[in-house]
Amino acid sequence: MSHFHLRDGVTHCEDVPLPAIARAVGTPVFVYSANAMRSQARALRAALSSLEDPLIAYAVKANPNIAVLTTLAAEGLGADVVSGGEYRRAQAAGIAPDRIVFSGVGKTAEEMRLALGGGLCQFNLESFPEAEMLSQIALSMGRTAPVAFRVNPDVDAGSHAKISTGAAHNKFGIPIDETPAACTALRSLPGLELKGLAVHIGSQLTSLAPLETAIARLGATIAQLRSQGHEITTADLGGGLGIQYDSALPPPPSVEDYGAMAARLTRGWDVRLIFEPGRLLVGSAGVLLTEVIRVKAGSKNPFVIVDAAMNDLVRPSLYDAWHEIGAVSPKGERMIADVVGPVCESGDVFAVARRLDRVEAGDLMVIHGAGAYAATMAGTYNSRALAPEVLVDGRDWAVIRPRRESEAFLADEDVPAWLKRAG
Ligand code: LLP
Repeated sequence: MSHFHLRDGVTHCEDVPLPAIARAVGTPVFVYSANAMRSQARALRAALSSLEDPLIAYAVKANPNIAVLTTLAAEGLGADVVSGGEYRRAQAAGIAPDRIVFSGVGKTAEEMRLALGGGLCQFNLESFPEAEMLSQIALSMGRTAPVAFRVNPDVDAGSHAKISTGAAHNKFGIPIDETPAACTALRSLPGLELKGLAVHIGSQLTSLAPLETAIARLGATIAQLRSQGHEITTADLGGGLGIQYDSALPPPPSVEDYGAMAARLTRGWDVRLIFEPGRLLVGSAGVLLTEVIRVKAGSKNPFVIVDAAMNDLVRPSLYDAWHEIGAVSPKGERMIADVVGPVCESGDVFAVARRLDRVEAGDLMVIHGAGAYAATMAGTYNSRALAPEVLVDGRDWAVIRPRRESEAFLADEDVPAWLKRAG
């Protein structure tokens, strides 16, 4: 059941009518359903229940708000982090260090020190030079760093080019056929303990086939490493399972099918499996609530100009992503329109030639699928505010991040003394 639904003709998030939030907080505003996140987390846990003690490390980058992390941590999830900032957020949400995986292709010395000092499950290393740097840091701190190598399996994820990560030309991981040599070389680096291997081939995957190929290659490499005497205790299968943005398209594979595939392919591996889902847990649990500023005639279709823009939700501009859009209170009539933001770029478009509920100035609209990679990718281009975030939980709701007005950014800036004197 969707946690965003029409009740008495008005879109609600759980038990809260969206217009009440718009009135109190203003628009644009991100609204998240805590119970949608919980039900996704529970569905995934159930789908993985045949595995022995898997670690579900939520990919914090999808939605790093501390209230979101706290909601998912309460479901027993760990965290996959890719920066010092994300590590600190996971800590602040009370996630136990041994449930935190540190991924990312460009970890800095400072980030390594932070995570090694605070503790973690493992660093997923993406190159040998990175291992050398971590070795030195671990030595200097008198610690042993648990590590895995992220392999690049050279698999086409079949997703948008900008969110596919597992092809040979991508910057991620170590070429899979070089991994055994890298693991052997790792033995000469003090302060590191090899735990296992990791793979993540991309995001918004709509087929399990490329994942199956990648996991099978990972399994073959683990077997090879063991035959060379390496002890392998973890295998990180990454994230990437897609969600349904467009109800007219076939749904992506279910979590049940995903779990069954993982169990089937890893049977007999004798490792602790780690998963790093992001979008799957939060993507459909959020919307961007926006108000129509005006409707302007276009050469073909009218432009519905809303008060949200590409700076709030960049996915359509960046990845040609499709997000479902509707009126908060549909009047029963439809129109074909382009839905655009006020930013001065032709790419500031949420939908083109979209058949949607008829709207006019002052109406509220809801842009779905804005729980993942939305608020976290927002910027302030055109000196716009950063939209606030609201969490709904049944009848309760709270602002979990206030609007950051452009005045606050202006106040942070300074004019150098020599320019002031010139005046
Ligand atoms: N693990 C690693 C190492 C990752 O790089 C990512 C996502 C994930 C896990 C989580 O992937 P997910 O389960 O959410 O697909 N901004 C893009 C998506 C970028 C994904 C980056 N890495 C978008 O809006 O579609």
